[in-house]
Amino acid sequence: MDFNIKSGQPEKQRTACLILGVFESRRLSPPAMAVDQASEKYLSGLLRRGDMEGRRGQSLLLHHVPGALAERVLLIGCGKEDELNARGYLTIIKNSVSALRRTGAREAVSYLAELDFKQRDPGWRLREAVKTSAHTLYEFNELKTRDKKKRRLGKLAFTVPSRRELPRAEAALNEGRAIANGIRLTRDLGNRPGNICTPAYLARRAVELGKGHRSLTVNVLDEAAMKKLGMGSLLSVTQGSKQPAKLITLEYRGAKKTDKPVLLIGKGVTFDTGGISLKPPAQMDEMKYDMCGAASVLGTLSAVAELGLAINLVGVIPAVENMPGGRATKPGDIFTSLSGQTVEVLNTDAEGRLILCDALTYSQKFRPEVVIDIATLTGACVIALGKHATGLMSNHEPLAADLLAAGEESCDRAWQLPIWDEYQQQLNSNFADMANIGGRDAGTITAACFLSRFTENYHWAHLDIAGTAWLSGRDKGATGRPVGLLTQYILNRLKR
Ligand code: BES
Ligand code: MN
Ligand code: ZN
Repeated sequence: MDFNIKSGQPEKQRTACLILGVFESRRLSPPAMAVDQASEKYLSGLLRRGDMEGRRGQSLLLHHVPGALAERVLLIGCGKEDELNARGYLTIIKNSVSALRRTGAREAVSYLAELDFKQRDPGWRLREAVKTSAHTLYEFNELKTRDKKKRRLGKLAFTVPSRRELPRAEAALNEGRAIANGIRLTRDLGNRPGNICTPAYLARRAVELGKGHRSLTVNVLDEAAMKKLGMGSLLSVTQGSKQPAKLITLEYRGAKKTDKPVLLIGKGVTFDTGGISLKPPAQMDEMKYDMCGAASVLGTLSAVAELGLAINLVGVIPAVENMPGGRATKPGDIFTSLSGQTVEVLNTDAEGRLILCDALTYSQKFRPEVVIDIATLTGACVIALGKHATGLMSNHEPLAADLLAAGEESCDRAWQLPIWDEYQQQLNSNFADMANIGGRDAGTITAACFLSRFTENYHWAHLDIAGTAWLSGRDKGATGRPVGLLTQYILNRLKR
């Protein structure tokens, strides 16, 4: 999908489809008013006759509107003007793109990014319009041989009211495009099934991403190298699998060598059967999404590298498959992690923390400014927060606050949970330094408490994306979250 910026009078746009907003009740937005004038009140006449109220969700497709050069005019209901806010705006953009897709238009000019409301500036409106449009048009059908929907729409322009705003608008558009590309990468990786998207596949895709950017260096460790380092906890998870585990690191250098990097760690369990503590069959297919943390690290690095941002950013991806088998971990087995601490594996399905803890320890060698891990870690997080908020836990309040703000700004929200010391005792083990599960109570928090034992040397935040990384049911598919939040966090850091 090709996005670009235009300015100029709407009635003069020579396009297959002109997209204009109508407020409730029956009030034309300023660009729609201009077309109305040129068409001798054609649009206001339609509204007066009751063809459209302007409620959100409504749309009306018109052909051959007099006085306009566009082949079609698509009117989009925007709801009450004084109630317009950021989330409502994104819904309007989404509705407009869905309606546009149902037309035969191959390209369009949308005036909806000119919709004005407090709280957000024009740059935000353009960037989010691009992200939301790309998101709405996304489909994953590379593995279908039939019923592939052919996409006609290839080009979408948004407008700014005056030429003076074009340079700033271009910059916002570039941001939107790069973030949208990162999100698409993350969704594609998530949606690919476990028989294709293996640890070795993730490693290949990381290497490929590195080849696309001079400032990005990629390194892959195999199991022998990990064994030599002493990553007993990570390796315990892969024992039952025929797929070799990989530890992928990506180093993006956009700033001075002496600038400490932001470090992202993504859980890359390419399929989670639960291991010997086997999961029940219902919806087990969705455990192909257990590498969405890893995919979000790749998506964020892709966006940052595409924008050439002046930051040092490191991605670390422990990639494994969690399978039962003759060599698999048995409940009660004890392993020594890279940190030297021993772990009693009481449940082989609590495998995410076992690979993350070694990645957290390994990350120290990059001398990071902050470490953020992203993981589909606990079913309990879905129970607590549902599909709307990512769970956030941190050992450093300012970092937590920055991430919450970035989530708010990018409409990719997180919600903080405490990791008080009181919870730590749930991880006590009779036979090792700690157990890998903490019982039914506060499952999301005790998982983070486990990780916190490996993060004492740096500022760290943990994002539990079990609820937000993908949707189930009719809309089943990866969401690309939290690439929006993470890229926003990085953009905000650069503004400080
Ligand atoms: N990948 C799962 C978490 C998960 C489950 C995410 C369902 C989204 C939906 C993770 O590896 C896991 O199995 N966690 C266990 C932990 C438990 C054994 C302490 C869980 O949440 O049940
Ligand atoms: Mn599991
Ligand atoms: Zn898992």
